[in-house]
Amino acid sequence: MNLFDVYPINEITIVKAKGSYVWDDKGEQYLDLYGGHAVISIGHTHPHWVKRIEEQLEKIAFYSNSIRIPLQQELAKKLGQISGKEDYQLFLCNSGAEANENALKLASFYNGRKKIIAFSKSFHGRTSLAVAATDNKNYVAPVNENDNIIFLPFNDEEALEKCFEQNGKEVSSVIIEGIQGVGGINVAEISFLKKIRSLCDTYNAVYIADSVQCGYCRSGKFFSHDFAGVNADIYTMAKGMGNGFPVAGIIIAPHIKPKHFQLGTTFGGNHLACAAALAVLEVIEEEKLMGNATMTGKYLKDELQQIPELKNIRGRGLMIGFDVPEAIKDLKKNLLLNQKIFTGEAKPNVIRLLPSLALKKRDAEQFIESIKEEIHSLQTV
Ligand SMILES: Cc1ncc(COP(=O)(O)O)c(C=O)c1O
Repeated sequence: MNLFDVYPINEITIVKAKGSYVWDDKGEQYLDLYGGHAVISIGHTHPHWVKRIEEQLEKIAFYSNSIRIPLQQELAKKLGQISGKEDYQLFLCNSGAEANENALKLASFYNGRKKIIAFSKSFHGRTSLAVAATDNKNYVAPVNENDNIIFLPFNDEEALEKCFEQNGKEVSSVIIEGIQGVGGINVAEISFLKKIRSLCDTYNAVYIADSVQCGYCRSGKFFSHDFAGVNADIYTMAKGMGNGFPVAGIIIAPHIKPKHFQLGTTFGGNHLACAAALAVLEVIEEEKLMGNATMTGKYLKDELQQIPELKNIRGRGLMIGFDVPEAIKDLKKNLLLNQKIFTGEAKPNVIRLLPSLALKKRDAEQFIESIKEEIHSLQTV
Protein backbone atom coordinates (compact mmCIF):
# COMPACT_ATOMS: atom_id res chain seq x y z
CA MET A 1 0.00 0.00 0.00
CA ASN A 2 1.20 3.53 -0.78
CA LEU A 3 0.58 6.64 1.26
CA PHE A 4 -2.08 8.98 -0.05
CA ASP A 5 0.18 11.73 -1.36
CA VAL A 6 -1.29 14.98 -0.04
CA TYR A 7 1.76 16.66 1.52
CA PRO A 8 4.68 18.35 -0.24
CA ILE A 9 7.52 17.15 2.01
CA ASN A 10 11.19 17.82 2.70
CA GLU A 11 13.27 14.68 2.11
CA ILE A 12 14.48 14.59 5.71
CA THR A 13 13.82 11.81 8.21
CA ILE A 14 13.86 13.08 11.77
CA VAL A 15 14.65 10.40 14.32
CA LYS A 16 15.40 12.35 17.49
CA ALA A 17 14.40 15.64 19.08
CA LYS A 18 15.26 17.64 22.19
CA GLY A 19 14.24 21.19 23.12
CA SER A 20 14.57 23.35 20.00
CA TYR A 21 16.69 20.80 18.13
CA VAL A 22 15.96 17.76 15.96
CA TRP A 23 18.34 15.22 14.38
CA ASP A 24 17.97 13.29 11.15
CA ASP A 25 18.84 9.65 10.46
CA LYS A 26 22.35 10.69 9.35
CA GLY A 27 23.03 12.39 12.68
CA GLU A 28 22.67 15.92 11.27
CA GLN A 29 21.39 18.47 13.80
CA TYR A 30 18.75 21.08 12.91
CA LEU A 31 17.46 24.13 14.77
CA ASP A 32 13.67 23.91 14.75
CA LEU A 33 12.00 27.31 14.36
CA TYR A 34 8.87 25.72 12.91
CA GLY A 35 7.88 23.49 15.82
CA GLY A 36 6.13 21.00 13.54
CA HIS A 37 3.69 23.77 12.58
CA ALA A 38 3.45 25.65 15.91
CA VAL A 39 2.81 22.45 17.85
CA ILE A 40 5.96 22.26 19.97
CA SER A 41 5.24 24.64 22.83
CA ILE A 42 7.49 23.57 25.72
CA GLY A 43 10.24 21.99 23.60
CA HIS A 44 10.63 18.56 22.02
CA THR A 45 10.64 15.58 24.41
CA HIS A 46 10.62 17.81 27.51
CA PRO A 47 11.59 15.52 30.44
CA HIS A 48 8.59 16.51 32.59
CA TRP A 49 6.20 15.86 29.69
CA VAL A 50 7.82 12.48 28.95
CA LYS A 51 7.67 11.48 32.62
CA ARG A 52 4.03 12.55 33.05
CA ILE A 53 2.96 10.58 29.96
CA GLU A 54 5.02 7.51 30.88
CA GLU A 55 3.64 7.44 34.41
CA GLN A 56 0.09 7.81 33.14
CA LEU A 57 0.61 5.09 30.56
CA GLU A 58 1.52 2.67 33.33
CA LYS A 59 -1.79 3.42 35.09
CA ILE A 60 -4.47 3.86 32.42
CA ALA A 61 -4.28 5.40 28.94
CA PHE A 62 -7.92 5.56 27.95
CA TYR A 63 -11.45 5.18 29.06
CA SER A 64 -14.45 6.81 27.44
CA ASN A 65 -16.35 9.84 28.70
CA SER A 66 -18.98 7.62 30.29
CA ILE A 67 -17.04 7.68 33.57
CA ARG A 68 -15.57 10.43 35.70
CA ILE A 69 -12.02 11.37 34.69
CA PRO A 70 -10.55 13.54 37.47
CA LEU A 71 -7.60 14.47 35.27
CA GLN A 72 -10.06 16.45 33.12
CA GLN A 73 -11.12 18.50 36.12
CA GLU A 74 -7.48 18.99 37.11
CA LEU A 75 -6.74 20.20 33.58
CA ALA A 76 -9.76 22.54 33.55
CA LYS A 77 -8.65 24.06 36.86
CA LYS A 78 -5.07 24.63 35.76
CA LEU A 79 -6.14 25.97 32.35
CA GLY A 80 -8.53 28.38 34.06
CA GLN A 81 -5.80 29.63 36.39
CA ILE A 82 -3.13 30.15 33.74
CA SER A 83 -5.42 31.58 31.05
CA GLY A 84 -7.29 33.79 33.53
CA LYS A 85 -10.65 32.41 32.29
CA GLU A 86 -11.52 30.64 35.52
CA ASP A 87 -15.28 30.86 35.09
CA TYR A 88 -15.22 29.26 31.61
CA GLN A 89 -16.15 25.59 30.94
CA LEU A 90 -13.86 23.15 29.16
CA PHE A 91 -14.85 20.67 26.45
CA LEU A 92 -12.01 18.42 25.30
CA CYS A 93 -11.52 17.00 21.81
CA ASN A 94 -8.65 15.95 19.54
CA SER A 95 -7.72 18.49 16.85
CA GLY A 96 -7.99 22.13 15.87
CA ALA A 97 -10.60 21.51 13.21
CA GLU A 98 -12.69 19.52 15.66
CA ALA A 99 -12.42 22.32 18.22
CA ASN A 100 -13.67 24.88 15.68
CA GLU A 101 -16.38 22.52 14.45
CA ASN A 102 -17.66 22.16 18.02
CA ALA A 103 -17.44 25.90 18.68
CA LEU A 104 -19.46 26.79 15.57
CA LYS A 105 -22.01 24.11 16.35
CA LEU A 106 -22.34 25.13 19.99
CA ALA A 107 -22.85 28.77 18.97
CA SER A 108 -25.66 27.67 16.69
CA PHE A 109 -27.26 25.57 19.43
CA TYR A 110 -26.98 28.60 21.74
CA ASN A 111 -28.75 31.20 19.61
CA GLY A 112 -30.59 28.95 17.15
CA ARG A 113 -29.08 30.77 14.15
CA LYS A 114 -27.15 29.68 11.06
CA LYS A 115 -24.98 32.47 9.65
CA ILE A 116 -21.27 32.56 10.39
CA ILE A 117 -19.00 35.53 9.75
CA ALA A 118 -15.41 34.62 8.81
CA PHE A 119 -12.62 36.67 7.26
CA SER A 120 -10.36 36.87 4.23
CA LYS A 121 -7.25 34.63 4.47
CA SER A 122 -8.74 32.70 7.39
CA PHE A 123 -7.86 29.07 8.11
CA HIS A 124 -10.01 27.12 10.55
CA GLY A 125 -9.38 23.47 9.61
CA ARG A 126 -10.32 20.76 7.14
CA THR A 127 -13.62 19.38 8.43
CA SER A 128 -16.99 20.34 7.03
CA LEU A 129 -17.97 23.59 8.74
CA ALA A 130 -14.42 24.59 9.70
CA VAL A 131 -13.30 24.29 6.10
CA ALA A 132 -16.39 26.11 4.83
CA ALA A 133 -15.31 29.02 7.05
CA THR A 134 -11.78 28.81 5.61
CA ASP A 135 -10.94 31.32 2.89
CA ASN A 136 -9.18 29.00 0.46
CA LYS A 137 -11.13 27.45 -2.39
CA ASN A 138 -8.52 24.67 -2.80
CA TYR A 139 -9.47 23.15 0.53
CA VAL A 140 -13.26 23.30 0.09
CA ALA A 141 -14.89 20.30 -1.63
CA PRO A 142 -18.28 20.84 -3.30
CA VAL A 143 -19.95 19.01 -0.42
CA ASN A 144 -18.45 21.50 2.04
CA GLU A 145 -19.77 24.60 0.26
CA ASN A 146 -22.12 26.34 2.58
CA ASP A 147 -24.39 29.35 1.98
CA ASN A 148 -24.31 30.25 5.64
CA ILE A 149 -20.76 31.58 5.66
CA ILE A 150 -20.25 35.29 5.07
CA PHE A 151 -16.64 36.26 4.29
CA LEU A 152 -15.60 39.81 5.12
CA PRO A 153 -12.27 41.59 4.70
CA PHE A 154 -9.96 41.09 7.70
CA ASN A 155 -9.64 44.12 10.00
CA ASP A 156 -12.38 46.06 8.17
CA GLU A 157 -14.62 47.50 10.89
CA GLU A 158 -16.93 49.27 8.50
CA ALA A 159 -17.68 46.10 6.51
CA LEU A 160 -18.36 44.24 9.75
CA GLU A 161 -20.75 46.89 11.02
CA LYS A 162 -22.59 46.97 7.72
CA CYS A 163 -22.90 43.21 7.66
CA PHE A 164 -24.39 43.16 11.15
CA GLU A 165 -26.80 45.94 10.24
CA GLN A 166 -28.04 43.85 7.30
CA ASN A 167 -27.91 40.32 8.75
CA GLY A 168 -27.58 40.87 12.51
CA LYS A 169 -30.58 38.80 13.54
CA GLU A 170 -29.34 35.80 11.55
CA VAL A 171 -25.70 35.84 12.62
CA SER A 172 -24.87 32.95 14.91
CA SER A 173 -21.15 33.55 15.33
CA VAL A 174 -18.05 35.43 14.27
CA ILE A 175 -14.91 33.31 14.06
CA ILE A 176 -11.49 34.93 13.92
CA GLU A 177 -7.85 34.04 14.51
CA GLY A 178 -6.15 36.58 16.79
CA ILE A 179 -3.16 36.26 14.49
CA GLN A 180 -3.80 34.52 11.19
CA GLY A 181 -1.29 31.70 10.79
CA VAL A 182 -1.77 29.88 7.49
CA GLY A 183 -2.91 33.20 5.99
CA GLY A 184 0.57 34.64 6.52
CA ILE A 185 0.86 36.03 10.10
CA ASN A 186 -1.69 38.83 9.99
CA VAL A 187 -2.46 40.39 13.36
CA ALA A 188 -6.09 41.24 14.15
CA GLU A 189 -6.22 44.85 15.23
CA ILE A 190 -7.24 45.55 18.80
CA SER A 191 -10.03 47.90 17.71
CA PHE A 192 -11.32 45.21 15.32
CA LEU A 193 -11.55 42.59 18.08
CA LYS A 194 -13.28 45.15 20.32
CA LYS A 195 -15.74 45.88 17.53
CA ILE A 196 -16.48 42.15 17.16
CA ARG A 197 -17.14 41.98 20.89
CA SER A 198 -19.51 44.93 20.93
CA LEU A 199 -21.42 43.85 17.80
CA CYS A 200 -21.77 40.29 19.13
CA ASP A 201 -23.14 41.77 22.36
CA THR A 202 -25.62 43.98 20.51
CA TYR A 203 -26.87 41.19 18.24
CA ASN A 204 -26.54 38.22 20.64
CA ALA A 205 -24.00 36.55 18.34
CA VAL A 206 -21.16 34.38 19.63
CA TYR A 207 -17.56 35.61 19.38
CA ILE A 208 -15.32 32.59 18.66
CA ALA A 209 -11.59 33.17 19.13
CA ASP A 210 -9.74 30.60 17.03
CA SER A 211 -6.60 30.22 19.14
CA VAL A 212 -5.50 26.92 17.63
CA GLN A 213 -2.24 28.39 16.32
CA CYS A 214 -1.94 31.80 18.02
CA GLY A 215 -3.05 30.61 21.49
CA TYR A 216 -1.37 28.81 24.35
CA CYS A 217 1.10 31.64 25.12
CA ARG A 218 2.59 31.80 21.63
CA SER A 219 1.86 35.53 21.37
CA GLY A 220 3.21 36.32 24.84
CA LYS A 221 -0.30 36.30 26.31
CA PHE A 222 -2.27 33.11 26.87
CA PHE A 223 -4.61 33.99 24.01
CA SER A 224 -3.50 36.52 21.40
CA HIS A 225 -7.07 37.84 21.53
CA ASP A 226 -6.30 38.98 25.10
CA PHE A 227 -4.34 41.93 23.70
CA ALA A 228 -7.72 43.54 22.95
CA GLY A 229 -8.74 43.46 26.62
CA VAL A 230 -12.13 41.90 25.85
CA ASN A 231 -13.28 38.32 26.30
CA ALA A 232 -14.49 36.03 23.55
CA ASP A 233 -17.43 33.70 24.22
CA ILE A 234 -15.59 30.59 23.03
CA TYR A 235 -11.84 30.02 22.61
CA THR A 236 -10.64 27.08 20.54
CA MET A 237 -7.21 25.56 21.12
CA ALA A 238 -5.09 22.64 19.94
CA LYS A 239 -1.50 22.66 18.62
CA GLY A 240 0.60 23.81 21.61
CA MET A 241 -1.81 22.28 24.10
CA GLY A 242 -0.19 18.84 24.04
CA ASN A 243 3.31 19.68 22.74
CA GLY A 244 2.77 17.02 20.07
CA PHE A 245 0.35 14.76 21.90
CA PRO A 246 -3.00 15.11 20.04
CA VAL A 247 -5.29 17.03 22.36
CA ALA A 248 -7.57 20.00 21.74
CA GLY A 249 -10.37 21.84 23.44
CA ILE A 250 -12.78 24.70 23.58
CA ILE A 251 -13.44 26.88 26.59
CA ILE A 252 -16.93 28.29 26.86
CA ALA A 253 -18.17 31.40 28.69
CA PRO A 254 -20.53 30.77 31.59
CA HIS A 255 -23.65 32.21 29.90
CA ILE A 256 -23.56 29.32 27.38
CA LYS A 257 -25.09 26.40 29.23
CA PRO A 258 -24.33 22.75 28.48
CA LYS A 259 -26.98 20.22 27.41
CA HIS A 260 -26.39 16.47 27.39
CA PHE A 261 -25.56 14.97 23.98
CA GLN A 262 -25.13 18.28 22.11
CA LEU A 263 -21.37 17.71 22.00
CA GLY A 264 -19.43 14.49 22.35
CA THR A 265 -16.33 12.53 21.42
CA THR A 266 -14.86 9.08 21.92
CA PHE A 267 -11.19 9.94 22.36
CA GLY A 268 -11.38 13.55 23.56
CA GLY A 269 -10.16 14.12 27.11
CA ASN A 270 -8.69 10.65 27.56
CA HIS A 271 -6.35 10.05 30.49
CA LEU A 272 -3.17 10.15 28.45
CA ALA A 273 -4.13 13.36 26.61
CA CYS A 274 -4.96 15.07 29.90
CA ALA A 275 -1.62 14.03 31.40
CA ALA A 276 0.21 15.49 28.38
CA ALA A 277 -1.83 18.72 28.51
CA LEU A 278 -1.24 19.10 32.25
CA ALA A 279 2.49 18.58 31.78
CA VAL A 280 2.51 21.38 29.20
CA LEU A 281 0.76 23.83 31.52
CA GLU A 282 3.03 22.90 34.41
CA VAL A 283 6.13 23.59 32.33
CA ILE A 284 4.68 26.83 30.91
CA GLU A 285 4.19 28.02 34.48
CA GLU A 286 7.41 26.65 35.99
CA GLU A 287 9.66 27.92 33.20
CA LYS A 288 7.76 31.19 32.70
CA LEU A 289 7.41 30.53 28.99
CA MET A 290 4.87 33.29 28.39
CA GLY A 291 7.53 35.80 29.40
CA ASN A 292 10.12 34.03 27.28
CA ALA A 293 7.84 34.20 24.24
CA THR A 294 7.54 37.97 24.72
CA MET A 295 11.25 38.54 25.33
CA THR A 296 12.76 36.24 22.72
CA GLY A 297 10.08 37.24 20.23
CA LYS A 298 10.94 40.91 20.72
CA TYR A 299 14.63 40.18 20.24
CA LEU A 300 13.91 38.34 16.99
CA LYS A 301 11.58 41.01 15.64
CA ASP A 302 13.97 43.85 16.52
CA GLU A 303 16.87 42.07 14.84
CA LEU A 304 14.86 41.10 11.75
CA GLN A 305 13.78 44.71 11.40
CA GLN A 306 17.45 45.68 11.03
CA ILE A 307 17.80 43.49 7.93
CA PRO A 308 16.84 45.76 5.01
CA GLU A 309 16.13 42.91 2.56
CA LEU A 310 13.30 41.55 4.71
CA LYS A 311 9.97 43.35 4.48
CA ASN A 312 6.96 43.84 6.71
CA ILE A 313 8.19 42.09 9.87
CA ARG A 314 5.05 41.28 11.88
CA GLY A 315 3.47 39.14 14.56
CA ARG A 316 3.54 38.92 18.33
CA GLY A 317 5.71 36.92 20.71
CA LEU A 318 7.03 33.81 19.01
CA MET A 319 4.62 33.97 16.10
CA ILE A 320 6.53 36.04 13.58
CA GLY A 321 6.24 36.50 9.83
CA PHE A 322 8.03 38.53 7.19
CA ASP A 323 7.94 38.93 3.42
CA VAL A 324 10.81 37.61 1.33
CA PRO A 325 11.36 39.57 -1.90
CA GLU A 326 11.63 37.71 -5.21
CA ALA A 327 15.40 38.32 -5.46
CA ILE A 328 16.02 36.13 -2.39
CA LYS A 329 13.07 33.79 -2.79
CA ASP A 330 15.22 30.72 -2.01
CA LEU A 331 15.89 31.94 1.50
CA LYS A 332 13.71 29.39 3.30
CA LYS A 333 15.08 26.50 1.26
CA ASN A 334 18.68 27.63 1.82
CA LEU A 335 18.18 28.11 5.54
CA LEU A 336 17.23 24.45 5.69
CA LEU A 337 19.87 23.14 3.27
CA ASN A 338 22.87 25.19 4.31
CA GLN A 339 22.17 26.33 7.85
CA LYS A 340 20.10 23.33 9.00
CA ILE A 341 17.28 25.55 10.26
CA PHE A 342 13.61 24.68 9.90
CA THR A 343 11.25 27.62 9.33
CA GLY A 344 7.64 27.72 8.17
CA GLU A 345 6.16 29.37 5.12
CA ALA A 346 2.95 30.89 3.89
CA LYS A 347 2.22 31.35 0.24
CA PRO A 348 3.45 33.08 -1.79
CA ASN A 349 6.55 34.54 -0.14
CA VAL A 350 6.21 34.67 3.62
CA ILE A 351 8.52 33.00 6.14
CA ARG A 352 6.86 32.08 9.43
CA LEU A 353 8.70 31.51 12.70
CA LEU A 354 6.81 29.28 15.14
CA PRO A 355 9.48 27.91 17.46
CA SER A 356 9.14 26.35 20.88
CA LEU A 357 8.14 28.92 23.50
CA ALA A 358 11.30 27.88 25.35
CA LEU A 359 13.55 29.05 22.49
CA LYS A 360 16.82 30.23 23.98
CA LYS A 361 18.34 33.63 23.22
CA ARG A 362 21.50 32.01 21.87
CA ASP A 363 19.44 30.00 19.37
CA ALA A 364 17.65 33.16 18.28
CA GLU A 365 21.06 34.82 17.86
CA GLN A 366 22.27 31.90 15.79
CA PHE A 367 19.24 32.24 13.55
CA ILE A 368 19.88 35.95 12.99
CA GLU A 369 23.50 35.28 12.05
CA SER A 370 22.46 32.46 9.72
CA ILE A 371 19.75 34.41 7.94
CA LYS A 372 22.14 37.32 7.32
CA GLU A 373 24.70 34.90 5.91
CA GLU A 374 22.15 33.27 3.58
CA ILE A 375 20.79 36.61 2.37
CA HIS A 376 24.34 37.71 1.65
CA SER A 377 25.18 34.59 -0.34
CA LEU A 378 21.90 34.77 -2.30
CA GLN A 379 22.78 38.32 -3.29
CA THR A 380 26.28 37.44 -4.40
CA VAL A 381 25.26 34.51 -6.59
C1 LIG B 1 -5.90 28.79 13.15
C2 LIG B 1 -6.08 27.33 12.89
N1 LIG B 1 -7.28 26.77 13.14
C3 LIG B 1 -7.50 25.46 12.95
C4 LIG B 1 -6.50 24.64 12.49
C5 LIG B 1 -6.77 23.16 12.27
O1 LIG B 1 -6.11 22.41 13.21
P1 LIG B 1 -5.91 20.82 12.99
O2 LIG B 1 -4.94 20.66 11.88
O3 LIG B 1 -5.39 20.34 14.32
O4 LIG B 1 -7.24 20.27 12.68
C6 LIG B 1 -5.23 25.17 12.22
C7 LIG B 1 -4.15 24.32 11.70
O5 LIG B 1 -3.17 24.77 11.15
C8 LIG B 1 -5.02 26.56 12.43
O6 LIG B 1 -3.84 27.13 12.16
